[in-house]
Amino acid sequence: MSAGTTQDTVDLRSDTLTRPTDAMRAAMASAEVGDDVYGEDPTVRALEERVAGLFGHEAALYMPTGSMANVLAVRSVVEPGQEVLCEASAHIARAELGAHGAISGLTMRTWIHPRGQLDLPVVQRLLAPDMGPFFVQTAAISVENTHNFAGGAVLPLDDLQALRTWADQVGVKVHLDGARIWNAHVATGTALASYGAVADVLAVCLSKGLGAPVGSLMVGSADAITEARVRRKRMGGGMRQVGILAAAGLHALDHHVERLADDHAHARLIAEACGVDPQTVDTNIVVVQRDDAASFVARAGEHGVRIAPVGPDVVRIVTHLGVDRAAAERAAAVLATL
Ligand SMILES: Cc1ncc(COP(=O)(O)O)c(C=O)c1O
Repeated sequence: MSAGTTQDTVDLRSDTLTRPTDAMRAAMASAEVGDDVYGEDPTVRALEERVAGLFGHEAALYMPTGSMANVLAVRSVVEPGQEVLCEASAHIARAELGAHGAISGLTMRTWIHPRGQLDLPVVQRLLAPDMGPFFVQTAAISVENTHNFAGGAVLPLDDLQALRTWADQVGVKVHLDGARIWNAHVATGTALASYGAVADVLAVCLSKGLGAPVGSLMVGSADAITEARVRRKRMGGGMRQVGILAAAGLHALDHHVERLADDHAHARLIAEACGVDPQTVDTNIVVVQRDDAASFVARAGEHGVRIAPVGPDVVRIVTHLGVDRAAAERAAAVLATL
């Protein structure tokens, strides 16, 4: 039986709920390790080099969480007292508990897009260049691909390339929150390196759809990573024989990327059952608007389908490695009756 699914329950609250497969656990158990603060863990190094290469960047840094990777990635392109612009429901703005302000001393301004998309003309109007002692200076634009709270929406590569071109013209940096960039890659066939090319710095997660128990990476220039390594240690994120966890990430890259297409198909099946147009579901997240969100969630739970409200009238349903076709069909059948 797959993780996230039992005889009685299908758990669709998040793609972070996966449990390591037996093969992943075996890879972890046999990982070569060393002290990573000394730079001596071969498995961590292999993972960092591999992920940097996938995105066409010089270096990468392994971190326990996507939040830490985002905080250090954004900090690498925004100084205290400067601002980053992002979409209003971006994870960095909504769900990192103010870390970018509290820890990095930077501010944010946001644009609103119902599907979390980049609205370049609006972003262009928001840009505040250096105006000395008058306004906060914009140092970077942050985009999220796929966009979690916008229902796993993919940001089109064309839009990202237009952002890159403009950002270079005006001298601001681009941060990409790629917690689920693998889903965007599989859904569109866009090379990871093409996503890498539009960003100065990225944060990518192994612990979402890829099914590793822990682990995210910041990806960027060698200089940015050297600096981030110091900041990571300062935040208490210097880990020792952590190859045992990095091995799960390497295993996930080998075995769990292409299968994301199954999660996307399961999400479309569930969307249809919930009366959501499957064409609007780009990847593995379904957002359902319900005035009765709390009772919808409660009733689904009574029928063995765990889903989560993300607002008073919004429910989020997420497919993942722990939900196979049979479980997705079971969940769809229950949700259709509600
Ligand atoms: C888009 C996005 N970015 C970053 C994160 C943060 O990851 P973590 O929970 O590992 O801190 C998440 C978590 O779900 C996310 O959805």
